[in-house]
Amino acid sequence: MSGNLQWGGRFQSAPDPALIAFGSSLEEDLALAAFDVQCSRAHVLALRGGKIIAQNQADELIAALDHIAAEIESGEFAAFARNSGAEDIHGAIDVRVRELTPAGAYLHAGRSRNDQVATTLLLYAADRAEKGKQVAARIIDRLLLYAEAERKEGTLLAGTTHWQPAQPVLLAFYLGAVAEGFMRDMHRFAEAASKAKEFCPLGSGALAGSTLPLDRKVACAALGFRQPTRNALDAIGNRDGALDVAHAFVRAAANASRMSEELIVWCAPAFSYARLGDEASTGSSLMPQKRNPDPFELVRGTAADLSGRYAGAVASIAAIGFSYHRDLQVTKSIIIGIVERGLAALDAFERALSHVTFNRARMNALADANFTVATDVADALIANGVSARDAHASVGAAVMRAEEEGRTLDATDLQRVAEEASLSGLDAPLDAKASVLAKKTFGSTHPDEVERALGTLRREIEAAS
Ligand code: ARG
Repeated sequence: MSGNLQWGGRFQSAPDPALIAFGSSLEEDLALAAFDVQCSRAHVLALRGGKIIAQNQADELIAALDHIAAEIESGEFAAFARNSGAEDIHGAIDVRVRELTPAGAYLHAGRSRNDQVATTLLLYAADRAEKGKQVAARIIDRLLLYAEAERKEGTLLAGTTHWQPAQPVLLAFYLGAVAEGFMRDMHRFAEAASKAKEFCPLGSGALAGSTLPLDRKVACAALGFRQPTRNALDAIGNRDGALDVAHAFVRAAANASRMSEELIVWCAPAFSYARLGDEASTGSSLMPQKRNPDPFELVRGTAADLSGRYAGAVASIAAIGFSYHRDLQVTKSIIIGIVERGLAALDAFERALSHVTFNRARMNALADANFTVATDVADALIANGVSARDAHASVGAAVMRAEEEGRTLDATDLQRVAEEASLSGLDAPLDAKASVLAKKTFGSTHPDEVERALGTLRREIEAAS
């Protein structure tokens, strides 16, 4: 097994296979395979650019790497890597290159797995951040389709705080609120993708740079980075770019989790605000009648898991000094886990969301139940010169009386609070529709404001794609 390690010349005994197995990162590294090949191609250019290898060697190396890229693409490379006896993907690809061409023995000149893993992880992270951006855009598009339809319908919703009925809003306003969060996620993904490709660590060697005249600029350009890293010591141990991408996934998953939580409740029969189609529901092995919103629960659970993993990743890096320490293999594994699970959760969220239907009649019916217009009545008093304190107390007392009498606020309540304030009468919204139409502020739930905000989101998403 130790035969295919990338080191060993100065060792007298073979390593304990159990410890090599413990130290293997091969399984999680498989996600990085294609990026490591890109990285190796760029290193060939750096070697050739510095005249460290001959042109025919460069050609042979590139041909071997192209061959391996095809094996990765077809899926057959994974089995080879697992049988290769290598500790990680870098080693496995090195074994395969050396199998394919004698020039393979020259590939690792001036290079360390340390600069290789730093570079490969950034390429991977940038690629996945792009994918995160795309799935965030799909989620926004889905939310906007729903919001635009519900805006036309004028569907009302009892907006809540603490899950208690608070004020009437449009369902489209709620959906727009969720879309705003995903729009921030989309920009966060785009920024993280861009920042990951700012500085190229390749050519930093183990920690100090190289005595070989590697052409770092050509490697950097080939990989699509904007400039080579300025300090090899920093470049080797820095994981900020990949952590930012992981963070973007943690945050987007948290946003998906928040809406999931509400949809889970909305789909409960006691609420009956929404229904999740059979395509996205699961049944019970015991209770024949059950229909459960599992995908949303899994998204919620995954978001919690990812935020815990992120804390672990930061802790793993905070503990170490500069350059490379093997802890960074753990950091890498956590980052890949966050990114892959995050991407899967966002994709599942978008799919499950596409199977939600809203119960408009039920939402409309409950939008003004439980005195959700009380604030508007108090506002009407304030607009007539009453202090906020007096208005609050007077409407609070009106709510208490109406509740005791088992009715909603009505014209008699308006008359009474008006008289208490020495006004001849009071004009205030008494139902949910009148409430949203009475809103006056920029960004409110007034239908015109909702339409404007949705239009802005729509244009932003179109500009980004
Ligand atoms: N498998 C290692 C990792 O994933 C590669 C780097 C090994 N470098 C070293 N100096 N041991 O981090």
